[in-house]
Amino acid sequence: MTESISGATLIYGVIGDPVRHSFSPRMMNAAFASLDMDARYLAFPVKSENIQDALAGIRALNVSGVNVTVPHKSSVIPHLDEVTPLAEKIGAVNTISNVQGCLTGTNTDYSGFIRSLKTLNCSPQNKTIALLGAGGSARALLAGLADAGASRVLVHNRTAERAEKLVSDISQYFPETKLESVSLQSIHETPLDLLVNTTTVGMVSTESPLDLAQCQNIGLLVDIIYSPNQTPLLRQAEELGIASANGVGMLLYQGCDAFTFWTGKQAPEQVMREQLLSLIE
Ligand code: ATR
Repeated sequence: MTESISGATLIYGVIGDPVRHSFSPRMMNAAFASLDMDARYLAFPVKSENIQDALAGIRALNVSGVNVTVPHKSSVIPHLDEVTPLAEKIGAVNTISNVQGCLTGTNTDYSGFIRSLKTLNCSPQNKTIALLGAGGSARALLAGLADAGASRVLVHNRTAERAEKLVSDISQYFPETKLESVSLQSIHETPLDLLVNTTTVGMVSTESPLDLAQCQNIGLLVDIIYSPNQTPLLRQAEELGIASANGVGMLLYQGCDAFTFWTGKQAPEQVMREQLLSLIE
């Protein structure tokens, strides 16, 4: 593969800390290769104190685009030339393009999640939805669900103040959607079209963020964790016959949308999906 690198090879990448275990280099390089594009994607470990220098470096070295991951999704914003309106509302950017030194940030976590719901035949429009968690992922998803026309979204977080802050931040932009910070009890008692787990519970532990047996009807459960591919929450959904999906779809489509944002081309979805699944199984 190295012999095909030329003087015109375009460079893309991901900046974050840590980035060593990111699946994006494999997914994006598979996409470039399948379309015979003269482009490569690398992982750049960037410490928080170096974020401004890293963005100046992207301009100076003419890196064509980067993904942004933990912990830089919010801190990059002041250093960009443009931010798309939704990324601005969310307060987080996960994809940056560099067009002749002009850095534009967008958020494909949001669009990728909504797109993954579509493939599950789920439209948030006029739906009652519950979101577990109030971290960075919850912020993008809550804005995405409200923007897609959800009628009501209940947010529950272990630390209630964080959920309250999230709800008040996002509510101002989406007055038509009823956003509420609620107790776990309220989640249990409300029939839901969609329940989404954005907490890390189930990724690092064998615990579950809630007991589905105590819930009313749930139309669809999505756990945005993709590794392990079946969390204890997803296992319980299967046992109870609740339709469910893990986070592979969101991961795939945030990548597809970033690819298109940079290149203007349709992403080779199947190639990218196969690459991801080969890394996760
Ligand atoms: P991300 O950017 O992936 O959303 P994050 O910002 O670190 O990650 O957020 C992690 C989420 O998982 C938070 O909502 C966190 O709850 P707190 O705000 O109370 O910390 C939630 N979380 C992590 N461990 C948890 C646990 N053991 N029980 C319940 N919630 C947990």
